[in-house]
Amino acid sequence: MKADLDPRTADRPERMTISRMTLADIRAVMRIEALSFSTTWPPSAFASELSDNRLAHYFIGRVPGGDIIAYGGIWVILEDSHITTIAVHPDWRGKRYGEEMLVRMLHEAIERGASWITLEARESNTVAQNLYKKYGFTIVSTRRAYYSDNGENAVVMWAGNLRGELYRNRLSVLERELATGMRGDP
Ligand SMILES: CC(C)(COP(=O)(O)OP(=O)(O)OC[C@H]1O[C@@H](n2cnc3c(N)ncnc32)[C@H](O)[C@@H]1OP(=O)(O)O)[C@@H](O)C(=O)NCCC(=O)NCCS
Repeated sequence: MKADLDPRTADRPERMTISRMTLADIRAVMRIEALSFSTTWPPSAFASELSDNRLAHYFIGRVPGGDIIAYGGIWVILEDSHITTIAVHPDWRGKRYGEEMLVRMLHEAIERGASWITLEARESNTVAQNLYKKYGFTIVSTRRAYYSDNGENAVVMWAGNLRGELYRNRLSVLERELATGMRGDP
């Protein structure tokens, strides 16, 4: 029976295909960026990350049919890593695509030798904070008036010992749950 006709799996979202972002993807990424952030990066920022920053690793996610619906970026500097951005097109949120992208970036960090990972999020962005907390991040500090558009505070979130058994086990349990809730291969 084809997977999409199987009543046990028909209501599950299809997994994204995640690949490395290229310069040709920036136009599609910018459309999601504009729908996701009040202060947006210019296309040149993505281009420079892709072309000039050897510590930067950017990804895009496509749904079947080929549309780019998500992206994310991370810097890995020896044992440290930093999520610089992550976004899902508003029409595709709440279907685990943000989670898939985060998992891809966590693997990138771990494979490149990072032991800890950090990021900033708006204090009001509880959706993003919930996603990160699910993957073991905790709030470690607040940066006052970090966002210049509205003076909002940033929370700094952090997860450590990524290469330790405890974190790897947590990640594989969450990944299994993620795979069970979706259709197809990653
Ligand atoms: C943050 C973002 C990437 C999450 O992506 P998503 O695909 O919508 O989220 P997922 O479906 O993968 O959900 C994963 C987890 O996120 C949290 N989450 C997602 N939607 C949520 C909601 N509406 N309310 C509360 N928590 C939510 C939950 O912890 C969820 O896990 P759970 O369902 O097991 O509780 C997406 O909302 C987005 O693009 N937001 C705008 C850009 C942004 O804020 N980026 C983060 C900058 S720090």
